[in-house]
Amino acid sequence: MIDLKTKKIAVLMGGLSAEREISLVTGKSVFEAMLRKGLNAVAIDVDRNIARRLLENEIDLAFIALHGTFGEDGSIQGLLECLKIPYTGAGVLGSALAYDKIATKETLKYHGVPTADYQAIAKKKRGETRREIDFPLVVKPSAQGSTIGVSIVGRESGWEPALDAAFQYGDEVLVERFVEGRLVAIGMRGDRCLPIVHIRPKSGFYDYEAKYTPGKTEYICPADLSAEEIGRCEDVGKRVVQALRARGFPRIDAIVDKEGVPYVLELNTIPGMTPTSLLPRAARQAGLGFEDLVMEILRTAQLDREG
Ligand SMILES: Nc1ncnc2c1ncn2[C@@H]1O[C@H](COP(=O)(O)OP(=O)(O)O)[C@@H](O)[C@H]1O
Ligand SMILES: [Mg+2]
Repeated sequence: MIDLKTKKIAVLMGGLSAEREISLVTGKSVFEAMLRKGLNAVAIDVDRNIARRLLENEIDLAFIALHGTFGEDGSIQGLLECLKIPYTGAGVLGSALAYDKIATKETLKYHGVPTADYQAIAKKKRGETRREIDFPLVVKPSAQGSTIGVSIVGRESGWEPALDAAFQYGDEVLVERFVEGRLVAIGMRGDRCLPIVHIRPKSGFYDYEAKYTPGKTEYICPADLSAEEIGRCEDVGKRVVQALRARGFPRIDAIVDKEGVPYVLELNTIPGMTPTSLLPRAARQAGLGFEDLVMEILRTAQLDREG
């Protein structure tokens, strides 16, 4: 096995996306875990000088702790490919596919993975596009995270404001049937499922505030699902990872409806990584502590290159 202590590791964090603040928290947690493990790590806040800084620091391996645009969408992955620096998480294609929610839906549909009925709307065709999904529905930017720009719409009066909100974050918007059920996070270790987390926001909507304010959401892990429902989530998890070319430790967001069907919302290639985030929580339940999780994630980057 490769000795990670001989490698100079960069934790890439921050960046310029709408999720910059969350990325800084994720990055700090990961960086501190690496120091506790005695690794030779450096924390880098990503800006447009990133290529030069990676080369000047003679980086051997990058842990990508970025969320959102440029960090999660294949951009930084492409740069690292050009520089021949191994990195954690999905590759260029997997990152791009998973970050674009419309491309994700098309791919999941092709592979027969359960996902809610949807419609894609382009900004330049907004005027001529009719709503095809019945209320209640969900409107979200195709490429965004952390529930930013997402609205649940129950009736006609909410439709145009929801489109306005979502188009603030990009030129493509996804409209999806509202799925009633239990929101779950399916953390993955390669193509195996970690214990599932049932997410119960006290307000009913898992928005930015519910995600990042302590006490606003209840997390149940292992989730209170039947053995059959867990089996279905495991099957879906494996198929999503394959369909979207994910690697390492991604996290799938899904809603299990009253028939026990897990409808997949999205796959996060770089899930939040503070000690209380969903993926570390699931890993801990599986007996994998935060520091060891960070080490395992690093090894998946290495194995992809040298294994
Ligand atoms: N089709 C849907 N039905 C019900 N709730 C949804 C649906 N889509 C999204 N949501 C809610 O909005 C949240 C954010 O949606 P998600 O697709 O995970 O985008 P992101 O987390 O990238 O912002 C979900 O955690 C869920 O609470
Ligand atoms: Mg989500």
